[in-house]
Amino acid sequence: MSRKSIVKLVASAVVVVAAVVFLGGFAGGQDVMYHVQNRDKLGPLSRSDIEYLDVEAPEATSKDGTVNAQDWSAIYPYIAVSWGDNSKNSYVTDYLEQDPYLVNIYEGYGFAKDYGSARGHEYCLTDVHKTLRPHAKANCLTCKTPNFAKLVNDQGVGAYSMPFEEAEALMEESVSCYTCHANEAGKGGTRVVTHSYVNKALGDNAGAIDPSTLACGQCHIEYYFTREDSETMMPYQSVDTMTPENILAYYDSIDFYDWVQESTGAKMLKAQHPETETFLHGKHAALLNCADCHMPLEMANDGTVYHSHTLVSPLENETLLSSCAACHGDTDMVSMVHRLQERVTARETEVGNKLSGMKDQLAALVAAGDTGEAELDALRKLYREAQWFFDFCYVENAEGAHNSELAFRCLDTADTKIDEALALMEAL
Ligand code: HEC
Ligand code: HEC
Ligand code: HEC
Ligand code: HEC
Repeated sequence: MSRKSIVKLVASAVVVVAAVVFLGGFAGGQDVMYHVQNRDKLGPLSRSDIEYLDVEAPEATSKDGTVNAQDWSAIYPYIAVSWGDNSKNSYVTDYLEQDPYLVNIYEGYGFAKDYGSARGHEYCLTDVHKTLRPHAKANCLTCKTPNFAKLVNDQGVGAYSMPFEEAEALMEESVSCYTCHANEAGKGGTRVVTHSYVNKALGDNAGAIDPSTLACGQCHIEYYFTREDSETMMPYQSVDTMTPENILAYYDSIDFYDWVQESTGAKMLKAQHPETETFLHGKHAALLNCADCHMPLEMANDGTVYHSHTLVSPLENETLLSSCAACHGDTDMVSMVHRLQERVTARETEVGNKLSGMKDQLAALVAAGDTGEAELDALRKLYREAQWFFDFCYVENAEGAHNSELAFRCLDTADTKIDEALALMEAL
């Protein structure tokens, strides 16, 4: 290539890049890019107003050496009090009463007996104790208390298969400081992953996730219990692979199922609460972390600035709501989010009822006993898949607000699979 044509090539490349940057600004990317670079300026207060302490952890009063919220309260009074305030959120919606079709879809599994909405973190231990869902093993404690994370870290994966009652007797507090900071909160609130399976599953890829998202991502995720040692585990290794499609393919590849449903004979899956997966594939993923929208920055009377640790809906907190304006301008965020959630909920109800109807037809075929096993298996597979995609959306607690595209993609995929099953049955 001659020197002249190289110069021409470089010049045209510069023009293209400049045009992209320029148009990007006009297409609304400008605000967004501004806030990517100024992530701590979402309101009048910002992270730079926080006075980060570098102090030794106080002596642990818990038997297992975890420094608890009470222990920290002398150093971080406001944070400790705000954490305690999670107990104010005690309202529970009974999903089974709200959406009766669930009882039919979850037939044969604990969630058909007892499934209420999430409430404050303070209630984790009480709620897991009194749930009507059976829990034979200690692994149910994984996401409820730092004492269990510590037990696993001290004793290894054997802790997961301890009898539930035996392990429960060792638990001292619900989710707490140690869960997200280990005993390192004194070092400027450094976030530490204490749940070992997160590091095991993600390995070096964990570094691609903001620590203030990964802190929540220790629990607000899809997980399963391994067959070998009942260990809690995530069904993927990276952000790229944490999609419902990839997770299903993974479960298929290890023949994993949560239960075999009696009336249909299908090997069923139950999704957990994939907030992190849903959020990380959504429109805010590169811009914000979970704390930005769920932990408002507050100033105490003495001027101390801190992240409130009362984990609330951004729609119920003025500070969080006003932070949306940095990118969303004067949009009424409450009605914007509610409108979106209403659309998702309506579609959920439609697909959920259709799935329940399809399940009844499949159960009737199984009961009649005159359909071949190969045909039944094809139907069971479609039913398993449809339920998986439906559930991935249903159990995600933001009802579409974290990622509406993914919510609709899940429900549309479920709908398509139900239609395929219905067509197969029609053709029998
Ligand atoms: C150790 C596990 C764990 C971690 C870590 C965790 N959560 Fe939770 N979270 C739960 C559980 C379990 C519930 C349901 C509690 C119940 O109903 O008993 C819950 C409920 C919630 C709720 C709904 C409850 C309410 O008060 O409305 C919100 C919001 C929430 N979490 C946000 C977060 C955010 C944000 C983070 C990260 C800063 C986080 N959580 C970290 C386990 C966890
Ligand atoms: C852009 C802001 C934003 C970010 C970032 C964000 N969320 Fe949310 N989240 C919302 C909104 C909006 C809702 C819906 C609230 C409502 O319905 O009142 C919500 C709802 C929730 C709920 C259900 C709350 C309830 O009361 O039932 C949980 C749990 C939750 N988010 C966890 C997370 C986690 C974990 C992360 C990080 C992986 C995260 N959120 C990141 C905006 C956000
Ligand atoms: C569910 C996870 C979680 C729990 C439990 C938790 N923190 Fe935090 N903590 C965070 C996150 C996330 C941040 C915000 C970091 C950021 O993005 O700037 C934070 C920030 C902090 C900071 C830095 C100062 C600030 O306000 O940002 C301190 C100090 C701190 N936490 C102490 C505590 C103490 C003490 C407890 C127990 C009473 C506690 N944390 C419980 C997740 C948690
Ligand atoms: C740093 C910039 C930024 C902030 C701050 C921000 N958003 Fe957004 N939000 C965006 C962008 C960019 C989009 C995508 C817009 C689009 O595609 O039209 C978006 C989209 C949304 C959507 C639609 C998501 C979907 O998947 O359909 C909701 C809901 C939302 N934001 C809620 C909130 C709430 C609530 C807050 C405040 C608590 C907030 N946002 C704060 C940048 C931001």
